[in-house]
Amino acid sequence: MATARTENPLVVGLSKQNGQVRAQQKVASGPPGIGQLPQNQPFKTPTSGEGGLHQQGSGTTAIRFGDDWKKSLQLPPKDMRIRTSDVTATKGNEFEDYCLKRELLMGIFEMGWEKPSPIQEESIPIALSGRDILARAKNGTGKSGAYLIPLLERLDLKKDCIQAIVMVPTRELALQVSQISIQLGKRMGDLKVMATTGGTNLRDDIMRLDETVHVIIGTPGRLLDLVKKGVAKVDRTQMIVMDEADKLLSQDFLVILEEIISFLPKNRQILLYSATFPISVQKFMSKYLQKPYEINLMDELTLKGITQFYAYVTERQKVHCLNTLFSRLQINQSIIFCNSTQRVELLAKKITQLGYSCFYIHAKMMQEYRNRVFHDFRNGLCRNLVCTDLFTRGIDIQAVNVVINFDFPKNAETYLHRIGRSGRFGHLGLAINLITSDDRFNLKGIEDQLCTEIKPIPSSIDKSLYVAEYHSQSPEGEEE
Ligand SMILES: Nc1ncnc2c1ncn2[C@@H]1O[C@H](COP(=O)(O)OP(=O)(O)OP(=O)(O)O)[C@@H](O)[C@H]1O
Ligand SMILES: [Mg+2]
Repeated sequence: MATARTENPLVVGLSKQNGQVRAQQKVASGPPGIGQLPQNQPFKTPTSGEGGLHQQGSGTTAIRFGDDWKKSLQLPPKDMRIRTSDVTATKGNEFEDYCLKRELLMGIFEMGWEKPSPIQEESIPIALSGRDILARAKNGTGKSGAYLIPLLERLDLKKDCIQAIVMVPTRELALQVSQISIQLGKRMGDLKVMATTGGTNLRDDIMRLDETVHVIIGTPGRLLDLVKKGVAKVDRTQMIVMDEADKLLSQDFLVILEEIISFLPKNRQILLYSATFPISVQKFMSKYLQKPYEINLMDELTLKGITQFYAYVTERQKVHCLNTLFSRLQINQSIIFCNSTQRVELLAKKITQLGYSCFYIHAKMMQEYRNRVFHDFRNGLCRNLVCTDLFTRGIDIQAVNVVINFDFPKNAETYLHRIGRSGRFGHLGLAINLITSDDRFNLKGIEDQLCTEIKPIPSSIDKSLYVAEYHSQSPEGEEE
């Protein structure tokens, strides 16, 4: 049954399709009605494992003074979907306002990013000034760009040393962020970005660090290993970013992070980003950050584009309920969360038996399979992904319009990050929670903590709440 391990993922459970499916094979990897988005372009996994050293093309176009450079941009098709004020309520800045290198500007525009989002407006100029930052902004509103743009701008590519580090809590997120930095920097001729994570051959990483590396993006354990061995030399590293900082500063990682920081120069810049910052982060801040600039764009916590429902069920009714959801909803792609590895595998098996296509992913799988599932799901080879909290934070798959909590999460932070996997960059999405009697108290608690309403699921859900093509666009292209 192992859907994740199937050589050809298309053979898994295609006899019956979700109610909304029209295409028989590949699901729309971009939203219906628009061309393929840059974010959904093939996710390249480094051929020799994920610790690959990504070298920027030697064929970079030289940009000379006076060139009409905007004409040479290779822009992706425009995304015509509605965006909520979570990303459109800006001060009206332009990327050109930040005096960025032209090569970087070109990379930004070629991502299809026309204007900075609110968190990018707040963060880019301050990060460029060298100041420490603690930034809190909603899921999917562009935090990666908010730190990667100033990070790339501040590099001196003539210097052969590791100048910036980005730490993230999961391997898949490290791959995703390194991919974005490579895309943003693709016009910056000599930029060298290295992704390094556990689950890959350490020797490969050691060999790669023999060559020039300007930016390292990875998970904490592997980086500390390389630093302690003296292979990754970080004594000239001027900037460290912690994405999903509250997770990185939790007990799982804190000691490792502190040790990595102890190898950095005293005057390094530290940037912390997340949608959630529990009080525990304060202690780290006062110990390591110098006069941090605090950004908090979370006047409310949940995204405007996501509608949340719950269905009250017994444990035994859950699979039947999911089956009903599959047949009634217009799912473009869905992520289905379970609370344990074992339940992920069991549910994936059940879904396959029901005749729907599905992949699964969790941290106990071999990294090779994880990469394959992530890659193929991003590319729309399968409609549904069952997973543990491995995919709760940071993962950006624009085609996901439905998130289902098959098992309700234990805390509000996890809930917020999970449902934030849909409704990316101000788009529309649905979050559906299967609630047993044991979860009732927790449901109320999470509603209270997030000041949000999770409504009982109606017999029919209005498609204009989560299906892009059913949503009429206002003249400004904006939706409250
Ligand atoms: N200025 C922009 N214009 C258009 N799209 C953008 C812009 N900035 C980012 N995006 C897109 O928005 C999506 C979400 O970005 P990103 O993953 O950085 O969000 P995030 O805030 O880090 O979310 P999370 O909290 O879930 O980690 C990505 O697909 C990205 O390409
Ligand atoms: Mg992120």
